[in-house]
Amino acid sequence: MRIIQISDTHLSPGKRQFAGNWPPLAAWIADQAPDLVIHTGDVTIDGADIEEDLRHAAALMRSLGVRFRAVPGNHDVGDPGHPRQPVTTERLGRWRAHFGPDRWFEDTEGVRLIGLNAMLLGSGEAEEEVQAAWLDAVMDGADGRRTAWFLHRPLFIDSPDEPDTGYWSVKPQSRARLLELARRHSVALIASGHLHRAHEFRHDGCLYLWAPASAFLVGPGMNAPPMPGENRLGAVVYTIDAALLEAEIVHVPGLVPYLIDDVVDEVYPRPSVNGPARP
Ligand SMILES: [Fe+2]
Ligand SMILES: [Fe+2]
Repeated sequence: MRIIQISDTHLSPGKRQFAGNWPPLAAWIADQAPDLVIHTGDVTIDGADIEEDLRHAAALMRSLGVRFRAVPGNHDVGDPGHPRQPVTTERLGRWRAHFGPDRWFEDTEGVRLIGLNAMLLGSGEAEEEVQAAWLDAVMDGADGRRTAWFLHRPLFIDSPDEPDTGYWSVKPQSRARLLELARRHSVALIASGHLHRAHEFRHDGCLYLWAPASAFLVGPGMNAPPMPGENRLGAVVYTIDAALLEAEIVHVPGLVPYLIDDVVDEVYPRPSVNGPARP
């Protein structure tokens, strides 16, 4: 089975700053003819507040002609504890109406693929505990299969016991719970997006993979902390069978390396109180 992971397409019918990267991405996916596409979030520019962004992005995903699954990013459903745009039942409802479940699993050739809604982690929403119980059950039920997690936000940047990195990774308390679960079940792969960087490394026997964005790069003007990995666009190709789980971060021909720094005031005009970081 071949799976393509794409991430951070940041699509919107009203704000078309990165729209030029969709046709080459869609053409490349059609050419690759994978069995499944997994989108790890920030599908939209502002689906959290603008339903039309969700409708538009879902229609584009359906137009790929390939089966797909998606998990939401902060720009799709809001962020845990965000002062202006928190994740809420209403926002999750809109995501589900256009993209289906925000968490899911499916079994294939010796691997259980699991999609998680990272925006619930640390949110205090009732759904956070529901998802946690669901994940425990889905892991217990893997029945000898290897497991692979897909979520928007990475569990950590540099180290599993690093303090709160704010916007960039999952909060320490939620992270510790997930890392413990991953260790106990020997999770094979934890794949994320959000950072708009390409990176892969191993920790505790698990492959951590940061999928690059296909919309834009984050430049020096965004005050991101120093991070490992590569500042590039692209996608990830997974080859999976009963004995193999192989991942390759690849170039997608024709993607233009737009910089968010150049257009951030048009794309994400926000009060400065919320900080400059917007991937
Ligand atoms: Fe994000
Ligand atoms: Fe993003």
